[in-house]
Amino acid sequence: MSFLLPTYSRYGVKFVSGKGPYLYDENGKEYLDFLSGIGVNIFGYAYSPLVEKLKTLAEKPWHLSNYFQIDSQEELAGEIVRSLFPAKVFFSNSGAEANEAAIKFARLYGKKRKNGAYKILVAENSFHGRTLATVSATGQEKVQKGFDPLCPGFEFFKFNDLASLLDRVSEEVVAVMVEPIQGEGGVIPAEVDFLYNLRQETRKRGILLILDEVQTGVGRTGDLYAFQGYGVQPDIFTSAKALAGGLPIGATIVHEEISDVVTPGVHGSTFGGNPLVTGVALEVIRRVKDPEFLAGVREKGEYLRDKLLQLKMKFSFVEEVRGRGLMWGILLKIKCGEIVQRALERGLIVNCTAERVVRLLPPLIVEKGEIDRAVSIIEELFREIEED
Ligand SMILES: Cc1ncc(COP(=O)(O)O)c(C=O)c1O
Repeated sequence: MSFLLPTYSRYGVKFVSGKGPYLYDENGKEYLDFLSGIGVNIFGYAYSPLVEKLKTLAEKPWHLSNYFQIDSQEELAGEIVRSLFPAKVFFSNSGAEANEAAIKFARLYGKKRKNGAYKILVAENSFHGRTLATVSATGQEKVQKGFDPLCPGFEFFKFNDLASLLDRVSEEVVAVMVEPIQGEGGVIPAEVDFLYNLRQETRKRGILLILDEVQTGVGRTGDLYAFQGYGVQPDIFTSAKALAGGLPIGATIVHEEISDVVTPGVHGSTFGGNPLVTGVALEVIRRVKDPEFLAGVREKGEYLRDKLLQLKMKFSFVEEVRGRGLMWGILLKIKCGEIVQRALERGLIVNCTAERVVRLLPPLIVEKGEIDRAVSIIEELFREIEED
């Protein structure tokens, strides 16, 4: 009997330790982790620079009220913003909270600067979180079902279809919110033209562009943030998941030009930006920002992509291979739940999203030999399926 509410259906495996990209269960069996706690553990497990940093911070105050100055919070905000564009940061504890703050800040902007405009255009098949506002912004029926009446003020357009978006533009629209790559929706990258033209059109109309980089951010796509690779600058973007290497964090980054709509008392979080988490996150972001590290992600990403494209050539039930950097989806013509279970039995952790997409989010420290190993396990499984 479990005392936990059954919000998850869980696998029967229990992990008790980890090192690098490997996890070990209670029987000592080794698993190669190509999911990283859903894009969180970018340095794998027991990464000594992070462990040492955490040990040092453990002796200091873990938590301080946000009524006081917190140096690591200031430094982390600077570290995120400095190479991007002039901006200010709000820290919270998760991706949903980071998006919730982005939604609230956009509404404040609408009230103060855009005649009360409040609508936010969001994409079909998107995922922005599990709070009521972010569920309302999520373009997936299965996520929204059972929770109406939903939060008003969101309208949906077809992802990668600018005409469908422009059809919904009105004086009431304050912002557009999209993921550069739809992660939960099945690893679907925004087309370069779509995102570029979206930026042009929103700028022309004084509509804010909010990018949800919760899954794509912090090096995952081979840039610090995916929008850099697209050559597009948002007005607001959000970051979470990998930002503190496995500790809970959310960040909402707001362009300096609009940041004055946020004033004391309009938003807050007890734990957001605490010294323990932001101290570890500082260590994470400094390492990820290293151009050599990012070049390594791009190189290994291309290596993985080539291997996956080879799989596509070999198996007719592989429909498409898509992604960027070290974020990949293998779209199948069949459901993939069973494949994930069988992969786990072989010691490989992957995930199935949008029913037919095997999603790969290895830690960014993964090595080519480990990529070889993961792909050869997937190939074995695909061969078995073909024979079934
Ligand atoms: C793009 C995106 N936004 C928001 C979220 C929600 O993040 P969290 O689960 O940390 O609230 C996720 C989580 O998968 C995500 O992928």
